[in-house]
Amino acid sequence: MVCLGNICRSPLAEGIMQHKAQAAGLNWTVDSAGTGHWHAGEMPDSRSVKTARQYGIDITGQRARQFHPGDFEQFDRIFVMDTQNFRDVLRHARSDEHRAKVDLILNEIYPGQDRSVPDPYYDDDGFDRVFQMLEAACDQFIRRHMTLLNG
Ligand code: 4NP
Repeated sequence: MVCLGNICRSPLAEGIMQHKAQAAGLNWTVDSAGTGHWHAGEMPDSRSVKTARQYGIDITGQRARQFHPGDFEQFDRIFVMDTQNFRDVLRHARSDEHRAKVDLILNEIYPGQDRSVPDPYYDDDGFDRVFQMLEAACDQFIRRHMTLLNG
C-alpha cells in the first residue's frame, strides 16, 4: 500500500487489508510505504489512528518508511492511492513484471477508472470517507482472490 507520506492513507489501507486477510484465513504479508521520505519513522497520523480504532483496527504499531525498488521483488501486488503515486512508483520499475504488479487501489471497485483516494491530510473530515473507500476496495480484492482460489 503506497501513498505520499505513509502516514494517512496507506497506513489505513495496510491496517484494513491485514485485518480482512486475517479474518479470511489468509496468511498475507501486508505492508505500506510512502513515495516521500519526510515522515519516515513516524507513527500514522493521529486522525488515521482514531478512524481505524473506530472500526476496531489498531494501526499504532506501524512506522512510516519510504518505498524502495526492492519492494517490487518482495511483494506480489503494489496498490497505490493516487495517480501521482502511480507515476512515482512506476518510475522505479525495471521490468514489465514489476509494472504489472502496480495498480490504483480504487480500480478494484471502479475497474479501469483510475480514480484516486483523496489525500485527507488537510481535511479532518476526510478520514472516514477514505476508510470506507479503502474498506470497499480491500473487500473486493479479497473476495476476488477467494473466488479464484475456490472456484
Ligand atoms: P498520505 O498524506 O500521503 O496519505 O500519508 C500525506 C501526508 C503528509 C503530507 C502529504 C500527504 N505532507 O505533505 O507532509
